[in-house]
Amino acid sequence: MNVIAVHEASSLAQRWPGLIHELGLECRVVNGYANSIIDDLRGCDALLWHVSQDSATDLRFARSVLLAAAKLGLRVYPNHETVWHFDDKAAQKYLLESIGAPLADTWVFHDRHEALEFIERATYPLVWKLRGGAGSLNVRLLRDRDQARKMVAVMFGKGVAALPPGRAVQAAAASALQHKRDLSWLLRNGRRVIGTYLQRLRATDAERGYILLQRFIEGNDHDVRVMVVGHRAFSSRRQVRRGDFRASGSGQNIFLDEHEVDKRLIDIGFRIARDVGAQSLALDFVFEPVTDEPVLLEMSYVMPPKALDAHKGYFDEAFVWHPGSYDLARMVLQDLLDATP
Ligand SMILES: Nc1ncnc2c1ncn2[C@@H]1O[C@H](COP(=O)(O)OP(=O)(O)O)[C@@H](O)[C@H]1O
Ligand SMILES: [Mg+2]
Repeated sequence: MNVIAVHEASSLAQRWPGLIHELGLECRVVNGYANSIIDDLRGCDALLWHVSQDSATDLRFARSVLLAAAKLGLRVYPNHETVWHFDDKAAQKYLLESIGAPLADTWVFHDRHEALEFIERATYPLVWKLRGGAGSLNVRLLRDRDQARKMVAVMFGKGVAALPPGRAVQAAAASALQHKRDLSWLLRNGRRVIGTYLQRLRATDAERGYILLQRFIEGNDHDVRVMVVGHRAFSSRRQVRRGDFRASGSGQNIFLDEHEVDKRLIDIGFRIARDVGAQSLALDFVFEPVTDEPVLLEMSYVMPPKALDAHKGYFDEAFVWHPGSYDLARMVLQDLLDATP
């Protein structure tokens, strides 16, 4: 391992170059969307890319470049097993059912009549979700059959924007401003910034032609996230918003210490990450009201590195606690270097 390529965008990409230099390796910052990307990667040993949920372009194209890079012989993060189901709760349903994970009952219909038949005999409330999204943006409660019928009409009609306009604006602005934040640069490049921004807005399609529903697990005032990175499992609890059933994106995170962590979830987390073959995996759990059994809601290969920094430590596979703050970028890089080719 000598030369490590890093796709230039997203928060992990800001941490990787310094860490790569620290290890005495060469870092090549690349634009993964350059027409010449495959040639640009020749001579590199690895490619790191923080595939972002906020970028429609990442969601559409990053996986292809990563797969092609792997074909070229590079080690990549995230690899195919890690990222193919990212930002796609339908893909996660199929995958998690196939490995027998304790996923909350989830239904995906691609046919309007089948969806209508299902909602006639279903028990309410039901949780409706889009395939993609984070921070509870695309998750809603359907209280009764009437609301479900309306949602079927929307999903098999005009659809729903995957990135709500407010969030799209925020994400587009962040991407346009990513590297250059000083005012004089902005004044000189104002047109380009606005152009990038509009381009990003237009790149987001409406989601339609399917409906995804999940059994509502009632009575949870928080969810618990387990983030597995290689042989380490981190855990945090997220309180729901006031008067709402949704925790993700509430910003009310509680980072657990050794004695507060639910070891059942650590065990399930390691098992799922292993069965999926993921280099890293964040899993969201709630609990059945009577039995307290953990139920999985969804997963993602990544979480914001700043949120991972705030954890108090991790459990390894032998349930030994390792206290301290750990950098997601560093762990991912280290695991990639250590992996048997
Ligand atoms: N089936 C469910 N039963 C109960 N609560 C749920 C269910 N699905 C989601 N939630 C709540 O909504 C939040 C967001 O749902 P999630 O599927 O994790 O979407 P996101 O991708 O936006 O994080 C979760 O953090 C959880 O608090
Ligand atoms: Mg979630």
